[in-house]
Formats: sequence, C-alpha cells, structure tokens
Amino acid sequence: MLRKADFCASNALMNRMLSRFALIFSTMLPVAAIAQDAPAEAPKWSIAIHGGAGTMDRSKMTDQQQADYKAALQAALDAGSSVLRGGGTAMAAVEAAIVIMEDDPKFNAGRGAVFTWDGKNELDAAVMDGRTRAAGAVTGVTTVRHPILLADAVMKDGRHVFLSGAGAEEFAQEHGLQMEPPEWFATPARKESLDRLKAEQLTAYDVDHKYGTVGAVALDQQGHVAAGTSTGGLTGKRWGRIGDSPIIGAGTYADDRACAVSATGAGEYFIKVGVAHEICARIRLLGDAPQVAADAVMQEVADLGGDGGVIVVTPSGEAVFSFNTQGMYRGRADSSGTSEVAIFN
Ligand code: GLY
Repeated sequence: MLRKADFCASNALMNRMLSRFALIFSTMLPVAAIAQDAPAEAPKWSIAIHGGAGTMDRSKMTDQQQADYKAALQAALDAGSSVLRGGGTAMAAVEAAIVIMEDDPKFNAGRGAVFTWDGKNELDAAVMDGRTRAAGAVTGVTTVRHPILLADAVMKDGRHVFLSGAGAEEFAQEHGLQMEPPEWFATPARKESLDRLKAEQLTAYDVDHKYGTVGAVALDQQGHVAAGTSTGGLTGKRWGRIGDSPIIGAGTYADDRACAVSATGAGEYFIKVGVAHEICARIRLLGDAPQVAADAVMQEVADLGGDGGVIVVTPSGEAVFSFNTQGMYRGRADSSGTSEVAIFN
C-alpha cells in the first residue's frame, strides 16, 4: 500500500483558490482581519532532500543512530538553504546539499557507497537545470570524490549529457575535479554487507534494508528549479549495472514548467516507469497537484513490484515526498521558516 510522508504538501490548485478567495474578501474586511486571514505567501525559495528509502524500523534504530542521521540530513539541508537564502541558484543549492551527503559514509553515495559484486565502489550521479533543461550525468566512476560535481561539469561543458567509466574519469581529470584513490570510498560496513550478501545469497535489499541514494531538489529566488541525485547503486551489482539515479527522466528530472524530482529506490522499476519525467509530465500536462502526481507514479512503481520514494519541488515552492517504503531519510526547508528532517513514515 502506498504511504505518504507525514509532511503534507499544500496543493497548487488549492493555493490558487485560496488566493482568489482572499482577493475577493479583502475588499470587504478591515485591514487587521485581512492581515490575520490572508493565506501565507508562496515561498521565495524551497528545498527538499533525501538520503534513501527503505525498511527503517524505529525499534531497530537506537536513539543515537536516529540523532546521527537527523543531524546529517540537517547539515545537508542547511547547506542548501544557505545558498538559496543568499540568492544563489537552485542548482548550486542542490549540489551544496549533495556534496555533504557524498562525504558522509552513512549514505550510499561518494564515500561509503555500496560495493559491487567485484568488490568495487562504482558511483553514479546526475543533475538537471529546470531553467534550460540542461543536464549532466555520469556512471561507473571510481575515483571522483564528488560525482555530483562531475555531473555538473558534464552539464556545463554541454557537448554530451551522459559519460561513463574511464571516459568520465578522464573528463574529471581534465576539468580539475578532486580525485581520490578507489580505497577512499570503501568502508568496512559496506564490505561486510557485500560479504553477507554473497555468503547468505541475499538480495541487496535483504542485506541493506534500504536504498541509500542521496538527492536534492530546489527552487531559487529567481523562480528556477533544479534536481540532483548521487548513488553507489545496489550492493552486489554486476556487469556494469546502471540504476535510475543518473538516467535523466528516471531518477532525476527538472523542468521549470512543472517541477524538479529526485528518486531513491529499486532503480530497475524507476527506469521502467520513467518516474521523474512522468511526475513532471503529469503536473504539466494533466494539471495534477504535485502530491497527486508523485503518489500516482509511485503507485505505478509499486504495481510493478518496486519500492522507494521521490522528492518533488515545484516552481511555486511546494515540496512533497512520496514513498512506499517504511521510511525515507528526508528533509525540507523554505523561505517561510520551515526546516524539518524526518526518517519514519
Ligand atoms: N536508486 C538507485 C539505484 O537503483 O541504483
């Protein structure tokens, strides 16, 4: 069954109706009453982040673990918020938030990424700018400290959208990105997961209980949206497997006419559904409210047997979450003073 985040999003249609209602009645009310009853202004900037979705069982996480995850999410959220508050671009905010999570071994991205079947850490990432629909993506990189910044460099270079493996590494070196030896990304906890997956013939989900991909979506004060996603993929992935995260339209998408989306979950299903583009298309073409669009598309993922979640931000500043797992590491903040992180459903 589809479960929604406990953050309830306002919906665009309702906001428009409320605005009209306020406009009509403002001519009839004394000033003090208007000030009290007028609907809140649409946020000038807005950001949502995720750090993966899965079976987050409250009883299996210590208070300290919960506090550590929340602090990590808050640090990423604060970094993105600070960019937006200062008038920076949505893209810069998305990257500021993701860079922090890539460096944090608690998340399956950058340092602390899961291991492939062959015992490597192969990283995927993508960014998309809703203003121009410029996009950049990389897959299978093993020595780039911040794959999200490499995706950004691909986007800015503009000749190609999607680079892989050795070519992507060469591009990173040519563009002066920070490189690290492959061992830098490896952590004992992730190696233990791979060993257990092999020894007990488990699936990636059985062994990790979650998809630890990280992502961010943002709206800036100029009214533009952007999305970014970064991941190590699935524990035990083989044969150069690529998930949804770096595939534009599957795990990552942004379009100023609709929304910005970043996904986390069983990538194969998100690719089949074209999740991120599908959500934007529903908002743009059907006029769906963002929560309705996100829930409908996540239901399609669930119907095919997949699980995970999405974060969505619209040009009017709504930030919504939808996931069909027990929990999703997530947070959102905006110019109206909202700043919150959560884990469980
Ligand atoms: N959602 C991340 C992956 O499947 O690789």
